[in-house]
Amino acid sequence: MAAVRRFVLCALLASAALLMPTAGLRADESPQVDYILRCQGCHVGDGSGYPGKVPDLRVSMRALLGTPGGREFLLRVPGASLSALDDQRLARVYNWMLATLDPRGLPEGFVPFDAAEVARARAARPLDNVQAARTPLAAAAGIPTTY
Ligand code: HEC
Repeated sequence: MAAVRRFVLCALLASAALLMPTAGLRADESPQVDYILRCQGCHVGDGSGYPGKVPDLRVSMRALLGTPGGREFLLRVPGASLSALDDQRLARVYNWMLATLDPRGLPEGFVPFDAAEVARARAARPLDNVQAARTPLAAAAGIPTTY
């Protein structure tokens, strides 16, 4: 079983290494590899998620980002806030996700996430009721409040 897991991990890392590297980062530090290893299991490679369970990030991330409180909300969802990634790497994953998963690319005037912002959001604890926090933001952003 352990051997199978090692094989799967090697295969994942090998295929991740073939993907476009991000300038100046080793493959094992690239936000794309971090996304593949830490987020993709639930969010799917293209961010589309699972209807009824995991939101479609291609629709929601950019929209929620533009609402008051939306940036902090995005950082405080448990799947990300509690991830093993450090603040710097999580910030890079967010910047990469927004630039890559959303076909519209980064919104105009986008201020990149950085380690300090991630640390502040993490210090505020992950959200224990994501739906309650998300519903008004989604309504303000004009996207469906359910997913
Ligand atoms: C175990 C499954 C799982 C993993 C792993 C996971 N997520 Fe999530 N994510 C979810 C679910 C489910 C939601 C919906 C909100 C909730 O119930 O937490 C969500 C919501 C989100 C949202 C808010 C989107 C919206 O429309 O509200 C963002 C942003 C996000 N995740 C980012 C990440 C990042 C970045 C990672 C990797 C570091 C990650 N997630 C890993 C399951 C996961």
